[in-house]
Amino acid sequence: MASDSDVTIPSKIKAWVYAERGNPVDVLKLVPDVGVPEIKEDQVLVKAVAAALNPVDFKRALGFFKHTDSLPPIVPGYDVAGVVVKVGDQAKKFKVGDEVYGDIIEKAVDHPKQHGTLAEYTAVEERLLALKPKNLSFVEAASLPLAIETAYEGLERAGFSPGKSILVLGGAGGVGSLVIQLAKEVFASLKPLRFPWPLKLLMKASRGLAFRLANPSSFWVAPAVSVPS
Ligand SMILES: NC(=O)c1ccc[n+]([C@@H]2O[C@H](COP(=O)([O-])OP(=O)(O)OC[C@H]3O[C@@H](n4cnc5c(N)ncnc54)[C@H](OP(=O)(O)O)[C@@H]3O)[C@@H](O)[C@H]2O)c1
Repeated sequence: MASDSDVTIPSKIKAWVYAERGNPVDVLKLVPDVGVPEIKEDQVLVKAVAAALNPVDFKRALGFFKHTDSLPPIVPGYDVAGVVVKVGDQAKKFKVGDEVYGDIIEKAVDHPKQHGTLAEYTAVEERLLALKPKNLSFVEAASLPLAIETAYEGLERAGFSPGKSILVLGGAGGVGSLVIQLAKEVFASLKPLRFPWPLKLLMKASRGLAFRLANPSSFWVAPAVSVPS
């Protein structure tokens, strides 16, 4: 079993950082000498193998919730998949060498961490991580946490259950594609309908319109972007 002492952690790491808010295209820079985040006793240090960006990162950079945000400089990124390289004194769930993934920011817009996941190393409370399933690559695992939490919470809040219908607009997007899969595989409630071409074309033309099927026992999904053009 690997221990903390087996792992060499550099004192300076590479990270994507913005020193002021604005369009990420203009303000996001790769900085070669960011300090490694210190871990608290309930945290672990993760060496990132893959990280993901979500719309919230873009909105955050633009200053959409600057009144509840950390002050720049900010390393963006909520999602990470990587390897545990250091464990806090009170962290018991993981050991050095474990492959983990998660959304490291518990409350998305309420003082999110200044040091996010677009860095070689990131500090995160162990309760926010899970072991990475062996059948997922790091990239696949990093793509999931925030989007699937959003999808799951949406279905829960909507009281979705067997016997109900669901229309998913933006069904090929990050959240939408997961709503469809959760509805089918976890909530066990979905029987996707294959739309006839005229209806597909109508949907393509009228994005946002909801259709209701004549047969109320059908469960159906309208993946707005899966309609071939
Ligand atoms: N990702 C997250 O973790 C997360 C968390 C909380 C909230 N949200 C919010 O959830 C929304 C979706 O996020 P996402 O990550 O799934 O984004 P995404 O991957 O960019 O997906 C957005 C989807 O919406 C479709 N779309 C865009 N404009 C549309 C319109 N006018 N009518 C119908 N469909 C339209 C897009 O289709 P095209 O590609 O064809 O344009 C795409 O399939 C965003 O508002 C985001 O802020 C996301």
